Amino acid sequence: MYPDRVVSGMRPTGPMHLGHYHGALKNWVRMQAEHPCLFFVADWHALTTHYDDPSIIERATWDMLVDWLAAGVDPSQATLFIQSQVPEHAELHLLLLMATPLGWLERVPTYKDQIDNLAQRDLATYGFLGYPLLQAADVLIYRASAVPVGDDQVPHIEMMRELARRFNHLYGKESGFEEKANAAVKKLGSKRAKRYMELRQDFQQEGKDGALEQARAMLDDAQSLSNIDRERLFGYLEGSRKLILVEPQAKLTTSPRLPGLDGRKMSKSYGNAIGLREDKDSVTKKIRTMPTDPARVRRSDPGDAGRCPVFQLHQAYSDNATRAWVVQGCASAAIGCIECKQPVIDAIVAEQQPMHERAQQYLDDPTLVRAIVADGCDQARKLAQETMRDVREAMGLGYL
Ligand code: TRP
Ligand code: SF4
Repeated sequence: MYPDRVVSGMRPTGPMHLGHYHGALKNWVRMQAEHPCLFFVADWHALTTHYDDPSIIERATWDMLVDWLAAGVDPSQATLFIQSQVPEHAELHLLLLMATPLGWLERVPTYKDQIDNLAQRDLATYGFLGYPLLQAADVLIYRASAVPVGDDQVPHIEMMRELARRFNHLYGKESGFEEKANAAVKKLGSKRAKRYMELRQDFQQEGKDGALEQARAMLDDAQSLSNIDRERLFGYLEGSRKLILVEPQAKLTTSPRLPGLDGRKMSKSYGNAIGLREDKDSVTKKIRTMPTDPARVRRSDPGDAGRCPVFQLHQAYSDNATRAWVVQGCASAAIGCIECKQPVIDAIVAEQQPMHERAQQYLDDPTLVRAIVADGCDQARKLAQETMRDVREAMGLGYL
């Protein structure tokens, strides 16, 4: 029925690092070849926590877009845009909030966590409470089926599903739906109409899922139908409610968390990150000076790779043979730490090389990025407007 769309976003709150690459961007790059993908800069979401200092957001937005392109997100395959340039997200957010119970928002685990973690900011705001609701609008407005995110976001996706279900339940009942559906059936032409009614009966009375599939395929092919009639007929197959919003699913990244320079999760706020496009000298210096097993005070002291953050990077970047070399060489003091670190430096530099190359053209000519985004915003907006037409009509706001 709806194309198998993928939607995801990131907040522009600072430069991207390799943790973002391994945790998210690699996943995006893989998905863009397989599905229609929409990736956006969640600048309004950045404002929910940085409302008192919005100055970094604009700069971070453009830098982040270059980072995405550098990582291999391909504008000829995926649609790239900026959330605030598609104001329909805000309209859907507003309409959704009318029927959203406060408890749903207060119970989201990230809400209380973040308020505690970011104690230096006053997050007792309306905007911050609504964060997951705005996020729901971001996804539901494209009727997306999948959302690639980290596992911390799963409760947000759960809530989107509940919101979609609640919306369809509350507003999917169009007045005169049966009559309109029947009129739409007639527009199929008599042969198809007859077939449609048979399949509908097979599904509703005998529970044949195959009949549902067949009927949907038939509707997909029926060129003469308007979108709204097609929707009605999809809904009428299953019952008498229209499916206006679609329940999306979380697509979790399978790659393990990338450790930072101190062995904790790589994060800007821990100061342990390596930038996505950091230059070679700086990467080399950071790795050379990163902490090792404290037991190895002198070169001749044996160590334990299991207690060393460098080894964690080997686990992300090295093959089995190299890892075995590290474990043995460390335990026997056969290798020094600088020697041990070199394969990690080489692997990171090699990973970043194509990113530097791809980024260069966009740094040389920033208007390229602006053109990509202008185009992406137009495309996203068209899709968002289609959904909003249905949403408005369902909520009794389809005046003109
Ligand atoms: N909340 C997401 C994050 O932490 C960003 C985001 C905003 C998002 N809207 C989204 C992610 C929609 C996926 C889909 O980074
Ligand atoms: Fe860490 Fe390697 Fe040094 Fe062992 S040899 S302490 S694993 S850097």
